[in-house]
Parts: sequence; C-alpha cells; structure tokens
Amino acid sequence: MSDDRILTAARADEDVQYEAGLRPRTLDEYIGQDRIRENLHVSIAAARQRGEALDHVLLYGPPGLGKTTLAYVIANELGVAIRATAGPVIERAGDLAAMLTNLQAREALFIDEVHRMSPAIEEILYPAMEDYELDIMIGQGPSARSVKVPVHRFTLIGATTRTGLLTSPLRARFGIVHRLDYYTEDDIREIVQRSARIVGVPIDLDAAVEIARRSRGTPRVANRLLRRVRDYAQVRAGGHITLDVALQALRLLEVDEQGFDEVDRRLLRTIIEKFGGGPVGVGSLAAAMSEERDAIEDIYEPFLIQIGFLDRTPRGRVATARAYEYFGLAAPGRDRLW
Ligand SMILES: Nc1ncnc2c1ncn2[C@@H]1O[C@H](COP(=O)(O)OP(=O)(O)O)[C@@H](O)[C@H]1O
Ligand SMILES: [Mg+2]
Repeated sequence: MSDDRILTAARADEDVQYEAGLRPRTLDEYIGQDRIRENLHVSIAAARQRGEALDHVLLYGPPGLGKTTLAYVIANELGVAIRATAGPVIERAGDLAAMLTNLQAREALFIDEVHRMSPAIEEILYPAMEDYELDIMIGQGPSARSVKVPVHRFTLIGATTRTGLLTSPLRARFGIVHRLDYYTEDDIREIVQRSARIVGVPIDLDAAVEIARRSRGTPRVANRLLRRVRDYAQVRAGGHITLDVALQALRLLEVDEQGFDEVDRRLLRTIIEKFGGGPVGVGSLAAAMSEERDAIEDIYEPFLIQIGFLDRTPRGRVATARAYEYFGLAAPGRDRLW
C-alpha cells in the first residue's frame, strides 16, 4: 500500500515535469487548432500595435487539449507576465482583489476552472473586467461604504471544460471565446514526433501514427502514451520505437485500437446491458457506474460522441450501432422508438 502511494506520488510529480517540458511556448510551436491560432495571431498583433491589453479570453474544451498551454502562449506572444490561479483555490474575495491590484498594465491573469468560483468572488470580477475597477466594501454595519479602486487594464484568460457551466454575466464579459476541439490524427502524430524529438527518443513514422491513432485526439494522452512506450522501448528494445515495439507496448498497456480505457468500455457496456442501449440520463448512468457525473460529462462522453459511439438525445444518452459492433453485439432494430 504505502509503496504504491510513493510510486504514484513520484509519478505524478514526474508527470507534471514531463508535461511542462513538452509545452509549446509560441503560437508557431502550438500544433493544430489552426482557426484559433490564426484568430489569436490577429488579435494579439492588433493589441500589441495599439499598445493595449488584449480582450479577455475564454478557452473551453475537454481536458488535455491545450487550454493551459495556450494561456501561457498568449501571454508570451503578448510579451507580458502571466499570473495563474484556479477557481476552486480562490477562497476569499480579498485574495482575488489582491491579485488584480498587483497586475501591471496589460499583464495576464489566468484562472483555470473559471466556472468554479463562488458567486461572491465572481462579483469582484465583473467591474474589474468591464471597467477595470474594484468595488470594495470598507468597514462593517451602518458605517460600511463601498469604494472604487482602479486596477490596470489587464487580460483575463479563463479556462473551463464546458462554457455551459459559466454564469451568463461572466461569459458575456469575455471578448474572445474559443472552443478547442479534439485534434486530427495527423496533428497528434506531429505532436508525438515533436515530443519524441524533445525527449530524445528515436521513433519511426508508422509508430508515431499508431500512437496518435490511440490517443483520443488529445495531446496529453499522446504524450503519456509516448512516455510509456519509450519506457518499454528502452527496457525491451534498445531504445528505438519501431511500429512493432509500439504495438507490443500498447498491448501491454491495454490501450485498444480506439484508444478506449476501462471506463470507456464500462460506460458503453452499462448503457447497452443495464439500460437496453438507452436513452438513459447522465445522472442514472453515473450512479449505475459509480463514477462522478462531471467526469462522465467532461472526459468520457465528449470523445465517445465525437467518434460516433454515443448519441446525446433530449431523453438521454444512446449507444449507437457502432458501439454494439465494437463489442461484437447485434444492434437493436432500427424500428425501436427512442
Ligand atoms: N497544440 C499543442 N501542441 C503541442 N502540444 C500540446 C498542444 N496542446 C497541448 N499540448 C501538450 O499537452 C499537454 C496538456 O495540455 P494542457 O494545456 O495542460 O491541457 P488542458 O489545460 O486543456 O487540460 C501539455 O503539456 C502539452 O505538452
Ligand atoms: Mg489545464
């Protein structure tokens, strides 16, 4: 048990370092998401030419697609400092007020999980984002009064997994909103090759393609798989990642051809076996699987929908014919009424 924990903790630490080393620093190094990059190129160049702060930016999309990375890239391209925090860790309104007053002109404040701020803290942000001032209450009881404190013009960069989680007043205050999508296999292949170059492991093209295919269109997953495959190559195959080595390593890791893990398979099986293929509400599904509803909605479901294994209907989630095929099952007849 305790051995296990030490191993896990050590790995988590290493994971963070490994990821940080692979982070692109500029828009040119950032692979894929072409439309977003082009838009940002223009917005950033315009702000720089005018000597103004960039509009507030909201980045949303499933975990591991590069939101945090992009936030740092934006600040870097603007040539300004960036401070980072996260919605759930801001405990008191005063903490956020202090952060805001410490920002210099045109600097960036990155708030990860921006949908998870408490309402009282969110309210500090509204006048700060809109009028670059804070409404601060001084004193208590009958003598309490509110004073306005100016802050420099800054850029708030918010990240969230789903924009639907944001309150509408907060959402409305972001001038630039971008949704990150799953990457194409080609983009992921490029990311795998780039990462392999950075960590100094030789990899064949077909091996990079194979890893990319199983990475759920997600750079973080691709980098993790590469890392495990590299370990395997080092210990079993003299360090060079050929297609054969990659396939052996992936088999050992039990990552299948779709890039599914155990939870993906269990999710689909639960819908098919316990709910007759659906429709089933996400709450019931989460309960039947003993998983967090948020994890299902943020991590598992979007990918399964994207590759056509799952449909979201007004009445709930439905397993598609492809999902049945994947398990070697016959799909229920088309005449069924959902
Ligand atoms: N466009 C990209 N090009 C290359 N690598 C990327 C890209 N986006 C993300 N990555 C890699 O994936 C990892 C996870 O990205 P991150 O920004 O932490 O995702 P998110 O914040 O959306 O969860 C990063 O460490 C980075 O190395
Ligand atoms: Mg992040």
